[in-house]
Amino acid sequence: MAKLTVRDVDLKSKKILVRVDYNVPLDKSQNITDDTRIKESLPTIKYLLEKNCRIILCSHLGRPKGKVAPEFSLKPVAKRLSELLKQEVKFAPDCTGDEVKKLAEVLKPKEILLLENLRFHSEEEKNDEKFAKQLSELAEFFVQDAFGTVHRVHASTAGVNKFLPSAAGFLLEKEIKYLGDALQNPARPFVAILGGAKVSDKIGVIENLSKKVDAILIGGAMAYTFLKSQGIPVGKSLVEEDKLDLAKDLMKKTDKIQFLLPIDHIIADKVADALASEDTNVEVTKGIEIKDGWLGVDIGATTIIKYKSVIKSAKTIVLNGPMGVFEIDRFAAGTNAVVKAIADATSKGAISIIGGGDSVSAVKKAGVADKVSHISTGGGASLEFLEGLELPGIAALKEK
Ligand code: 3PG
Repeated sequence: MAKLTVRDVDLKSKKILVRVDYNVPLDKSQNITDDTRIKESLPTIKYLLEKNCRIILCSHLGRPKGKVAPEFSLKPVAKRLSELLKQEVKFAPDCTGDEVKKLAEVLKPKEILLLENLRFHSEEEKNDEKFAKQLSELAEFFVQDAFGTVHRVHASTAGVNKFLPSAAGFLLEKEIKYLGDALQNPARPFVAILGGAKVSDKIGVIENLSKKVDAILIGGAMAYTFLKSQGIPVGKSLVEEDKLDLAKDLMKKTDKIQFLLPIDHIIADKVADALASEDTNVEVTKGIEIKDGWLGVDIGATTIIKYKSVIKSAKTIVLNGPMGVFEIDRFAAGTNAVVKAIADATSKGAISIIGGGDSVSAVKKAGVADKVSHISTGGGASLEFLEGLELPGIAALKEK
């Protein structure tokens, strides 16, 4: 990779500030329900421990909007990290101030200190220079490993580098390698599978990927906006009425590649919250049209066969977004079939990249998380990367 990584610099015995993305889901009792992001930070931390470093970790959790909010404390993360590393992880009650300075000062080689949530200070999201400088004063070197947050222009992503020499950690390096290689040098055929509720969330991705991929397969509710834009009846399916022209234009831009929409659907006669109820009637359409009073909730069997055949021949695959309301088992068949087809193609040599929270949950739910090449830890960040945008937290790092 073009950016300096921890491997390229002499970090021996240094005091290092590491930006990690510990924005992990917590339940009401502050238990971590998915520790993937903590586990993914371990290679960099272990490497720095081997180098005899003193490690100060910083992160955000949730969106506390510049106020101290106990429900967004990183304390449970310190406990989990300590279990995973089998060593004590000290916890600082704040991320700046005299007490934190002292804790950082007395840190010994191979000791780890996790700072409290950066976003308890509004200065973090404002990329306040004074705040970035205060953070920088805790250490001698800065390591950026929070891929999930590098699309933000915050003090800990784009500000602190001004005051400290810096490099990328292993997670950031891995994410850039998989996503970057796919965009710049993909093995072909290159297939993107895009799902989710809204066309508006994926405009940039579709525009950028249509210049790079051989095929785009569309699923999820955004398929109904595309179908309606082509004059196809979609019943009461979720449609972004104000994006119909845009969907039409996007489809014109993809005329040089295979751009596939579902050709049949699983449909239901309830909406939103009521969908999960037992008395929801479910049918399979005979063709592409959805009748009045019904809404599409998943891709149908013929679409599954078509999508599977395209995925089977792919050599590079990117998945972002589910094919239907996969959280409800009855409507998960399309998403399951697609992620299993991706796992099969991967076992035959394809490179597969899964991005976005929902797709990651779908891959885990289908039991194929260890059968794909790369699961991105970034939601918004991986989308912006796929859009071809410059990510400020990566741009702020030095070239090799
Ligand atoms: C994420 O979960 O996508 C990252 O941690 C970024 O969080 P944010 O969207 O609140 O900036």
